[in-house]
Amino acid sequence: MDEIKIRQAVPADVANLNRVLSQLSSDMGDEHRAGEAEIARFCFGANPVFHALLAEAADGTIVGAAAYSPFFSTVNGSVGIYVSDLWVAEQMRGKRLGQGLLAAVRKAGIVAWDAGFIRLGVYQDNPKALAFYERIGFVPAADTQFMTLAGKAYESLGDEA
Ligand SMILES: CC(C)(COP(=O)(O)OP(=O)(O)OC[C@H]1O[C@@H](n2cnc3c(N)ncnc32)[C@H](O)[C@@H]1OP(=O)(O)O)[C@@H](O)C(=O)NCCC(=O)NCCS
Repeated sequence: MDEIKIRQAVPADVANLNRVLSQLSSDMGDEHRAGEAEIARFCFGANPVFHALLAEAADGTIVGAAAYSPFFSTVNGSVGIYVSDLWVAEQMRGKRLGQGLLAAVRKAGIVAWDAGFIRLGVYQDNPKALAFYERIGFVPAADTQFMTLAGKAYESLGDEA
């Protein structure tokens, strides 16, 4: 893993970043509706809502990526880092690059926000990723259900008022 450099993504990385995030969506069997315009706007625009780290091989190939955003927790009294995406190229898996990306996210979160913890969601039908997170020390939430408001319910919220 010595020849792999982990660095902050910059605006010139928009196409590569969207390509690897789209590969993650494909690996997960998810739709990928983000385009380069959304990546440019939401990662590098005037009010960025996420940040990204890239793992780059010596020849410039992107072999890993992590996307993350800060949130404040009154319970913890500190900023948490929400990791929305984590991906390592198939041929590079199992070499601690994923762990290295999370370590770099932690470091960047401490520098930027004095962050105190990391949170993320993982599909229950992704046992390899679950094992990966558990080996690092992530603990599943026993008492919290992740909920989403979207589509018509989202659009009509407040209409009845
Ligand atoms: C999950 C993922 C990010 C882990 O990154 P990684 O660099 O392969 O993981 P590391 O080398 O740091 O850690 C290895 C551990 O991860 C787990 N693991 C997950 N997928 C693995 C794979 N394909 N090959 C080997 N180990 C894998 C194992 O528990 C392994 O621990 P072990 O070496 O004690 O057996 C990476 O495998 C990946 O991108 N998978 C596909 C996309 C994905 O599932 N992303 C997470 C979405 S929540």
